[in-house]
Amino acid sequence: MLKISALNQFYGSSHTLRDVSLNVAEGACTVVLGRNGVGKTTLLKCLVGLLPVKGGEIELAGQPLTRTPSHRRVLAGLGYVPQGREIFPQLSVEENLRIGAYAGERNQTAKGKQFSFDDVFHTFPVLKTMRRRIAGNLSGGQQQQLAIGRALLTNPKLLILDEPTEGIQPSIVMEIEAVIRSLKGSLSILLVEQFFDFAQAVADDYVVLVRGQVVSAGRGDQMEANNVRALISV
Ligand SMILES: Nc1ncnc2c1ncn2[C@@H]1O[C@H](COP(=O)(O)OP(=O)(O)OP(=O)(O)O)[C@@H](O)[C@H]1O
Ligand SMILES: [Mg+2]
Repeated sequence: MLKISALNQFYGSSHTLRDVSLNVAEGACTVVLGRNGVGKTTLLKCLVGLLPVKGGEIELAGQPLTRTPSHRRVLAGLGYVPQGREIFPQLSVEENLRIGAYAGERNQTAKGKQFSFDDVFHTFPVLKTMRRRIAGNLSGGQQQQLAIGRALLTNPKLLILDEPTEGIQPSIVMEIEAVIRSLKGSLSILLVEQFFDFAQAVADDYVVLVRGQVVSAGRGDQMEANNVRALISV
């Protein structure tokens, strides 16, 4: 579904991504692991078009996206849940979701699963209970669920999640894990994660970044044997 080939990116003279290649198979989840500052978020920003790349190719379902503007990548089927969630804190839960749905309505030619408000409320019941609340007043975990719901309403072919468990209470981490498992099959997922156990629980495939380079890659069930724990522990 997603093919990233030999991606290179610089911040000024600092070479942040070095020949990064990875794939996400259709209906599967690839996890990107790595310590703080190795370039995980930079990789996702290049993927969604928020940062330009110096070289390399990005292809979604056979469609080249490397030079496509960001809003068109959303319409092509990239659903992005940024690190720190970036919901609109002054708007209500429902208004945040409507922003996702607005892109989703224009996205109905995409072949992926189509998500309705009811689907999102079924997945995250708390969002239904809190639909009129101001989003900024939700807990961190609830805001994460809202950000995922908003991304699902864009009807993505590929859901992209940047450290969804960061700073979130364990019960909601478990809910998010269950949601990722249940979404697999109907869409493809690229997950950035630093928690080994969470990553292993959802990964079909994995890559580990160290200083902007892929140093280990394989099937999710090889993570333990390939000593991924040591590569990401601090
Ligand atoms: N806008 C920027 N300008 C210059 N350097 C940056 C910028 N954003 C990030 N960097 C640097 O690029 C490197 C990669 O940062 P990035 O945010 O991609 O890491 P990360 O793996 O997502 O880290 P974390 O796990 O802490 O979120 C870091 O050394 C960071 O300091
Ligand atoms: Mg990051």
